[in-house]
Amino acid sequence: MNLKQTIKEKIDQIIDEDLNKSLGELNATKELIITDKAIQVYIELIQPIHILYNKIKFEVKKLLEELAPGKIYEIFIGEISSQPTNRQTLNRVKNLIAVASGKGGVGKSSIAANLAAGLMLTGAKVGILDADVYGPSQPTMFGLENRKLMATTTPDGRTIALPIEQYGINVASMGFIMNREEAAIVRGPMLAGYFSMLFEQIDWGELDYLIFDLPPGTGDIQLTLVQKIPLTGAVVVTTPQEIALADVRRSIAMFNKVKVDIIGIVENMSYFSPLELPDKKYYIFGEGGGRKIANEFGINLLGEIPLDLEMREGNDSGKPVILSHSDSEYVRKLKEFVENVVKYVRNINYKKSSFNLPEISI
Ligand SMILES: Nc1ncnc2c1ncn2[C@@H]1O[C@H](COP(=O)(O)OP(=O)(O)OP(=O)(O)O)[C@@H](O)[C@H]1O
Ligand SMILES: [Mg+2]
Repeated sequence: MNLKQTIKEKIDQIIDEDLNKSLGELNATKELIITDKAIQVYIELIQPIHILYNKIKFEVKKLLEELAPGKIYEIFIGEISSQPTNRQTLNRVKNLIAVASGKGGVGKSSIAANLAAGLMLTGAKVGILDADVYGPSQPTMFGLENRKLMATTTPDGRTIALPIEQYGINVASMGFIMNREEAAIVRGPMLAGYFSMLFEQIDWGELDYLIFDLPPGTGDIQLTLVQKIPLTGAVVVTTPQEIALADVRRSIAMFNKVKVDIIGIVENMSYFSPLELPDKKYYIFGEGGGRKIANEFGINLLGEIPLDLEMREGNDSGKPVILSHSDSEYVRKLKEFVENVVKYVRNINYKKSSFNLPEISI
């Protein structure tokens, strides 16, 4: 076997752990060029690749060093796009993720803010769109109260608005368009106008992820929204108690009805560990509800996030806690949750792209 074949075979054995497939099965090596001095490898992976990038690059470099020491290695890793080409709106956004809950007050906005911030920490370009008309919270979570969207007119006469950047994340909210008193009186047709404005007139530029903080519930507003947005998938938030779980079932049914993939379920306020007794867990609202629902519907459990004082203070002080340098259990659990979201988004994208992966041989 010549060197090129040996290298190709070894690269093919590297595992994409999110998809549980080898790079060989994924047909990921698109180019392998060996010259006297250098080796060039070009690998394509299912997007988003931010978390995976360094790991795969390291593994390829290690095996090149073993098999062909002393050369210059040029390892390029690109993304396979799984973009539907016919998307009308938001066509420069790669992954659109709704954060939803059947019930109010379960921590949906907190989870959405920390998800957006956690994804930004992976190196991705991220936006968050707070579509909660009656109770927009993202202006508070990101310390942007009383801000307004700036509108400009494009050369071709369209009015567009730009999101507001905070901590490296692009934020837009119903709260930037109207104040709370106004929000309480907007109804049906006017709402549709506001939503169109949020979806069609905000210029997000290129994004890896856009996170939607949906209003709580499964009524007409939510249904209209999830039909209007070309979602990659939905994250459903719940708390552990029975009463919340009934609402989760409704939420899942809504997404099934409109054929939106469910990325998974995340249980918030799962337990409380006092600072002075960090190994002790008090299951204040009951135990294992999220897991039960996940098993019942065969969907992924993305995380169990504890109750945390830092969380509440962080939210209310205008910076998502995941951005603090805390190494609390709470932040660790949030980061695990973010990684799980990325993993299952990649699985959804794989499923979509695996129908049309070209076969190539090199
Ligand atoms: N894990 C947690 N630990 C402590 N406090 C939390 C946690 N999650 C959320 N909270 C707090 O609970 C309150 C409600 O959270 P949040 O606003 O995120 O919920 P929501 O589901 O978006 O509510 P709504 O239905 O009103 O939109 C906030 O004060 C928030 O700071
Ligand atoms: Mg909310």
